[in-house]
Amino acid sequence: MLKRRGMRGGGLVRRFARPLPLAWLLALCSFIPIMTAAIRVVQIPLGALPADSLRLAVSPPAYFLHALTGLLFGVLGLLQFVRALRRRYGTVHRWAGRAFVLAGAGLAWSGLALLLQVESIATGLLDAARGVFALALVSALALGIASARARDMPRHRAWMIRAYAIGMGTGPVGLVLFPLYLVTGEPPTGVLTDVVVVGTWLSSIAVGEWVIRKLG
Ligand code: HEM
Repeated sequence: MLKRRGMRGGGLVRRFARPLPLAWLLALCSFIPIMTAAIRVVQIPLGALPADSLRLAVSPPAYFLHALTGLLFGVLGLLQFVRALRRRYGTVHRWAGRAFVLAGAGLAWSGLALLLQVESIATGLLDAARGVFALALVSALALGIASARARDMPRHRAWMIRAYAIGMGTGPVGLVLFPLYLVTGEPPTGVLTDVVVVGTWLSSIAVGEWVIRKLG
């Protein structure tokens, strides 16, 4: 009896000690940007933006495209990482992959358009990082497509993981800055905030590289 209880306890410990599957971890980190993008997709056409986002509406097409492609890139990217879906529904994976690449290209293009058209409230550090990462995203997607065409699947997977890490790189920072925003009612700004954002972006890319090495 005791022995059986001990085994049950051990099983429970193992279950909780098991690392979180990648897709769930990604979903946690991507939740806030995806949710914000989904809300803006509805608010921009309705003209119902909150006061602190009105600044971005100087260029409604770029703003709407950015929110829409961000939403698609975030959600499709998560689905592409679910191994069971990839293995069981290969055709869906291929079509969702094409939509993911188009969304990523639209995200980078509209991100650059916002960067050039909207009056920035960020430091030069964050704006420069946005420009560099938008170009890096397009390059990673192009290399991902080229390796899929060359049937080099490990390389294809590596470039798509890299693209997702670059595109969603600021996702985890929302877990800290969003509660701060809810408390103060003001979007956090300033040098320290931007250093944290760029540091998080670089860390997400580093985690992406770690995952690529782990997968081999
Ligand atoms: C390389 C990737 C990305 C770049 C370069 C980029 C660039 C930008 C820029 C320049 C802005 C305007 C910032 C401001 O002046 O306040 C912005 C806002 C925004 N971005 Fe991105 N972005 C990227 C990825 C994403 C992703 C993946 C999502 C969604 C999943 C997203 C969703 C948004 C949203 C919703 C806003 C508007 C926020 C608001 O209304 O207050 N972005 N982005």
